[in-house]
Amino acid sequence: MNREAVIYAMSPRQGGNSDAAARAFAEGVRAAGGEARIMALRGADLMPCRGCYGCRADLGGRCVLPDAAAVAELYRPLLEARLLAFAAPIYFYHLPAQAKAFIDRSQPWHLRREAGDPVLAALPPRRAVPLLVSGRARGERLFEGSLLTLKYFLLSFNVRLAGAVELRGYDDSHDLEADQEALERTRGAGAQAWREAVRDGTA
Ligand SMILES: Cc1cc2nc3c(=O)[nH]c(=O)nc-3n(C[C@H](O)[C@H](O)[C@H](O)COP(=O)(O)O)c2cc1C
Repeated sequence: MNREAVIYAMSPRQGGNSDAAARAFAEGVRAAGGEARIMALRGADLMPCRGCYGCRADLGGRCVLPDAAAVAELYRPLLEARLLAFAAPIYFYHLPAQAKAFIDRSQPWHLRREAGDPVLAALPPRRAVPLLVSGRARGERLFEGSLLTLKYFLLSFNVRLAGAVELRGYDDSHDLEADQEALERTRGAGAQAWREAVRDGTA
C-alpha cells in the first residue's frame, strides 16, 4: 500500500465540472496531510469487455484483449491506494460510456476474488468517495445507477463506498468552478475522507 489517495476522473470532457470536483477533493486530502493524485481515464483508449470469459480460470484465467496490460496499470491504484474517489458526470442516469467500459474490464479481478485469490483476499479494507455531477438540479434518482455500479465494482478490491458528494445542477463546463460553496464542500469531503482513512489505519 502507498500513502496516496487516487481520484479517478471519469468524464470525457476535459476541464469540466467533475474535473473541478476531483481537484477540490485532492486539495482537501492534501490539506489534511495526505497525498493525492488525479488519474484521468479520458486519454485511455479502452476496449470494451467482449464477454469471452477468457479470464475464467478454466479458459486461461487472463484477459485476452490486446490492451490488458495497459488496463492492469489503470487498475493499480485499486490494489495500492489508501483512499479512492471517483469523479464523474451523470450521462443518462449513469456513468459515461468510457467509465463503464473501464468498470466492465474488472471482470478478471471479480472472478479471481470469487475464487478466493489470496492477493485480493489480503487487501485491506478501504473506502471510495463518489463525486457525482449532474446537469439537472432535481431528481431523486439521478445518482442511483452510478452508485450501484460503483458499489459492486469495488467489492472485488475490498473497497466500500463512502457517502457520495452529490453536485446537482452544473451543466456548462465552468459552472462548478463558479460555486465556491460546492467546492468547499468537496474539499471538506476530501479532508474528512483522508482523516477517516488515517483513523482507520489504512493511511
Ligand atoms: C450524453 C450526456 C448525457 C447526459 N445525461 C444527463 C442526465 O441523465 N442527467 C443529468 O442531470 N445530466 C445529464 N447530462 C449533463 C451532465 O451530467 C453535465 O453537463 C455535467 O456537468 C458534465 O460533467 P463534466 O463537465 O465533468 O463532463 C448529460 C450530458 C451528456 C453529454
